[in-house]
Amino acid sequence: QERQRLVIGNWKMNGNLADNARLLGSVRESVAGAGACAVAVCVPFPYLSQAQAALSGSAVSWGAQDVSVHGSGAYTGEVSAAMLNDFACRWVLVGHSERRTYHAETNELVAQKAQVALNAGLTPVVCVGETLQQQEAGETAQVIASQLAPVLALGAQAVAKMVIAYEPVWAIGTGRTATPQQAQDVHALIRQSLSELGVAQVQVLYGGSVKGANAASLFAMPDIDGALVGGAALVAEEFLSIAAA
Ligand code: G3H
Repeated sequence: QERQRLVIGNWKMNGNLADNARLLGSVRESVAGAGACAVAVCVPFPYLSQAQAALSGSAVSWGAQDVSVHGSGAYTGEVSAAMLNDFACRWVLVGHSERRTYHAETNELVAQKAQVALNAGLTPVVCVGETLQQQEAGETAQVIASQLAPVLALGAQAVAKMVIAYEPVWAIGTGRTATPQQAQDVHALIRQSLSELGVAQVQVLYGGSVKGANAASLFAMPDIDGALVGGAALVAEEFLSIAAA
């Protein structure tokens, strides 16, 4: 059984009501008929309601960029999985490298967040990836393995319902994308650990300076099932051309 293609836009901390309305409108309109590739956007929390209103009943789904491990209570600034459900989110990114770097999220916390998302019926998109320093030191495989370990430890049933995104940190927002072969090599490793767990249908996305011009060559690789798109997801034309690829 073939894995469905998936392109997710991660808006990060960008947007405003007016720009969002235009972007969501274009995406909704253009993705209407397409079916070969699922398309989603992960927007900042305050715009979930706007995304829901703009995309309801369309082929485009939406989600958030983070979730709290806590259910409710005195956790100032946090947003729970139940709150994401209130806005009919389908997806939530967990462990994005920017969360790991600026908010000290550990591999264990990321796995916990993935479990909390699953418990709420959300699909966690678990992000992993090595830094430039780690890549240059030849540590990529080892870094990915340690990031994945607590996630895989959640068990086959849980992992089967996730999406994994490989985002080499050195390729994020730098314009320096991994070559298709570089990405494929890491995707093959990830695919291998998923196979060992007995889950074959998990989608593994590539992220890091994906744009219309390089998407097709990345998607031609056997273990790259789609993309997690940052900067290019803010430009309707670019984002849609990635989905078309
Ligand atoms: O989540 C998306 C990634 O961080 C990629 O960002 O496409 O701007 O390089 P980018």
